Formats: sequence, structure tokens, C-alpha cells
Amino acid sequence: MQATEFLVKEAWELLEKSMVYFRGRPVGTVAARDPYVEALNYDQCFMRDFVPCALLFLTNGRSEIVRNFLIETLALQSSDKQMDSFNAGQGLMPASFKVELWDEEQYLTADFGEHAIGRVTPVDSCLWWLILLRAYVKATGDIALAHQPEFQQSIMLILKLCLADRFDMYPTMLVPDGAFMIDRRMGVFGHPLEIQALFYGALCSARELLAGRRGEFYKQIVNQRLSVLNLHIRQYYWIDLKRLNEIYHFRGEEFGESAINKFNIYPESIPYWLTEWIPETGGYLAGNLGPAQMDFRFFTLGNLMAIISSLSSDRESQSIMDLIEQRWQDVVGYMPMKICFPAVEDLEWKILTGCDPKNVPWSYHNGGNWPVLLWSFAAAAVKTGRTELAWRALEIAERRLSEDEWAEYYDGRNGRLVGKASRKFQTWSIAGYLLAREFLEHPEHLALISFTDDPEMLEWMCYAREGYESQKC
Ligand code: GLC
Repeated sequence: MQATEFLVKEAWELLEKSMVYFRGRPVGTVAARDPYVEALNYDQCFMRDFVPCALLFLTNGRSEIVRNFLIETLALQSSDKQMDSFNAGQGLMPASFKVELWDEEQYLTADFGEHAIGRVTPVDSCLWWLILLRAYVKATGDIALAHQPEFQQSIMLILKLCLADRFDMYPTMLVPDGAFMIDRRMGVFGHPLEIQALFYGALCSARELLAGRRGEFYKQIVNQRLSVLNLHIRQYYWIDLKRLNEIYHFRGEEFGESAINKFNIYPESIPYWLTEWIPETGGYLAGNLGPAQMDFRFFTLGNLMAIISSLSSDRESQSIMDLIEQRWQDVVGYMPMKICFPAVEDLEWKILTGCDPKNVPWSYHNGGNWPVLLWSFAAAAVKTGRTELAWRALEIAERRLSEDEWAEYYDGRNGRLVGKASRKFQTWSIAGYLLAREFLEHPEHLALISFTDDPEMLEWMCYAREGYESQKC
């Protein structure tokens, strides 16, 4: 048997073993099956960790587990989510759930963040759930499931949570620190890119799933939000050499409507590393944007999901792939791929992470390398026609995955060391590898997760952009 074939076989066997059964039916997968350390909550099924598994099952005609997962998590959405007598929002989806035995009967219990380290809110769970439901419908044609009243209700509850009027001036979604894959304090509160890219994908999904009169009403709100969100991100989050030059010459303290530097970004906040790092051709979407705050770090998943969901324009998507190609050692290194670049160090690490020993520079969320990111890289590569890059990354990953027992993450500037507190046999590392292969070998499967630009919205955006450009002159 060839080495690749062996690896694929091993990965599938491990994935089968990670499956969670509830009253005899498969409903998800555990986060990790590491025999060497205490499980903590890694023996639970996490919403975000299940995503690559679900997509993989769907591409392999095994939709039953995904259907069960959607039905069970829908039921959990309306269960009690309480911490210290406070009731969290009704539409919230759990970060994770587990099967428990009570009087010889199995029950599912969910964690909405009230047990998680740091009591973090899993905002991404709601967004991924919508994206998964749409992927399921796309793969199976079973729109009847999404049209069931409980599902329609569930979609609307999530939309209500996401679209509620808040104290905010931007169309982007405001979230606390650690609201997504980076679920510890890392200075990613406010309007982080990853949440915006998932928000965009979730809204695109909802618009395909909504039905009936109330559905039509929500569709209009969703459409409106999609176009302003798209415009906002493409306009203000984009960074390339040209844009960096503009920011470098920004004037501060501009008042009123004609301000060019709308968020009052001070040029002095451009980090030293960036002027060296930004390639001649290539660019990316900034990690975050707020008043006098632009997070210049490169966050991989946010950028890749922006490509996949068409939140970035075709030209921007190509530029993001250019950047990854040109900064290969930094972003891919010895294990695809880096979660964010660069790491925060010294005083900045102290302030941003609160001295988190797990997030020391170039480890875990703070510049660690995560094999799970391989699937979204492969998807983005297929979408942009840059598959040679994803094949290269896959080949690099294949050298280590099995030998390192499917580690959760890697440490070091180029991801050479298995992460200090990394789990072994991490399910999404396993599924991420298989799914990356799947997308490269069967590019048609990309349709499950990707979206294309809506021509009507593009027209509206051109119009709005013209207004913006004329203000600048
Ligand atoms: C870690 C990761 C999180 C993941 C969880 C389970 O907390 O930060 O994204 O869902 O482990 O694998």
C-alpha cells in the first residue's frame, strides 16, 4: 500500500472511533481521543470541531450523522443556559455537548460556555450551525428538514441574536474576546475578522434556507445586512502595500462626514514588522477594526473563510493567496498552517493575553500552527484556482501527521515542535486532512461550503463605492 493510502486509511479508522452515539444513533464526534492526558472537555462534541467532520461525512454520502447532529443541537438551543442565575440569549448554540447517563437513560447535556475555561461565549457555534445546515441541504437536497417549523424558528432565533440593534455604528458583529476558535483572551474582542467571515457565510446560508412569509421578511433584512457588511469589510479591512501607504500618510483627528481616516487610525500604530512583511504583490484582511484600532495581525481562518464565502472580492482573494505563497515559511512552515502571524510578545503578550501561559509567543492560539486549517486552505485554493499551493501544503502535513499522532497544534516560529500542551489524536486534525484531500480530488464538493457574489449586491456596492471614492477626491 502506498504511504498516502495508508495515511488516509488510518485517518478514516480514527475518525470512525471518534464518533459519539446517542440512543444508538451517531450524533457527532469527540474533540480528541488522547490516551496520555486527562480528557477535561475534549471528550465532548464541539460544534466547531465537528464542522470538518460533518463536511467530510456529507461528501462521502454519510449524511445521517449530520442530520442527527443538526436535530439534536437544535433541541439543545432551547435548553437552559444559565450562569450565576443569568439566562443567556435564547438562540445561542452550544460550544459543545456530551452524552450522560441518568437512570439508565441517555441524555445530552450542553455547555454554552458556562463550564468552559474563562466562561467564553461560543458566538461562532450559531454561525457554523447555519453554514452546516445549508451544507447538509446542498449535499442531500433535503430542504424539507430546513423548512420544518422548528428549524425555521431556530434560524430566526439565531438571526435575531445576530441582527439585534446594539450600541454599534458598524455592520460588523460585536463580540467579546475568545468568541471563536481562539477561545481564550487574545485581544480578539470587538469586530474580529473570523467572526465577520462566518457571519457573512451564515447570512448567505440563512437566505437560502428561510421560507414562508416571516422568512421573506427576514430575507430582506439579511440581504441588506449582507451588502453593507461586504462593503465595510472590503473597504476598510483590506491591507496591501498601496493601502498601507495610505494609512501611513493618514491624518488623525478628522471630524465629520468627509473624513478619509474614518476610524482615526494613527500611522504610528502600524507595527514595525509589517512594513517589512507586506509583499509587493499580495494583501490580506486585517484581524480587527475599531476606533483608533486596526489589528494588523494576519489571521488565517478569517482570511480563508472570507475567500470561501466570497466576502473578499475575486481580486482580493487572489492577493491573499499571493501573500500566503510569498510568506510561505511564516504561514505554512513545517505544518500547515499558522493560526495568526506574528505572535504577540513581551509586554504586549502580558496585556493582551493576561499572562496566559498556554498562549506564550509562537504557541497555541498565539502563533501556533494548526493542522485543522488545512481543509479551509484547500477549499480557498480550489476556489481561487491555486490548487498547487494546497497540494504543497498537504504534502508537508503528510510527513508529520501520523508520526506525531495527529497532534492538535504545533509550536515555534515555523511550527516544528509538537505543541507543548497539544492533544494527540485530535479529531479535527484528522478530519481536516481528509477533507483537504477531498476538496482537492473532488473540487465540485466545494459548493457545500462556498458562495458566489450576488450580481445585484455587486451593483449596489459599486454605487456605494463610487460615493466613497468621490468623497476622497
Ligand atoms: C481548544 C480550541 C478550540 C477547540 C477546543 C476543542 O479550546 O481553542 O477552538 O474547539 O479546543 O478542540
